[in-house]
Amino acid sequence: MQVTMTVNGEAVTREIEGRLLLVHFLRDTLGLTGTHWGCDTSNCGTCVVLMDGEPVKSCTVLAAMAGGHEIRTVEGLAAGGELDPVQRGFMNCHGLQCGFCTPGMMMTARALLDRNPDPTEHEIREAISGQICRCTGYKNIVESIRWAAAEQAGVRSTLEPMTVGSAS
Ligand code: FES
Ligand code: FES
Repeated sequence: MQVTMTVNGEAVTREIEGRLLLVHFLRDTLGLTGTHWGCDTSNCGTCVVLMDGEPVKSCTVLAAMAGGHEIRTVEGLAAGGELDPVQRGFMNCHGLQCGFCTPGMMMTARALLDRNPDPTEHEIREAISGQICRCTGYKNIVESIRWAAAEQAGVRSTLEPMTVGSAS
């Protein structure tokens, strides 16, 4: 079957098998390997992408179901040669160690900040509750998202300095 969708702002049309999952379409058909595939149980969340602005686990969506929709992957976060505030937050606050969970975490963070630019720690933890990180203990991931929220609001300088490198 033929499927057409928008991926990171570009229309793409491909012939696919109806059983193909979106995560494999992105990685194997389009070569967008920034979206990771981490489990067979829909639990880890490293495969999260945005579909029409909402985070979805791309291992639970058939590529055919994404037809006609707008998909945004981690490759589409940076714009105009500038990293997204979420990317800068993860970099500045050491929000990753091995980095395997990071694409999904950042896409979920982007969706959260798009609908709630000033989330509480509880709201951040709730937003990422469907995702697993085996390395960081989540503390610096939460700090990274708080940093991004402050950065895009232009108030980062009023926050306490980040504890870069103090994972867990
Ligand atoms: S690959 Fe683990 S939830 Fe999608
Ligand atoms: S940084 Fe390793 S799983 Fe999250």
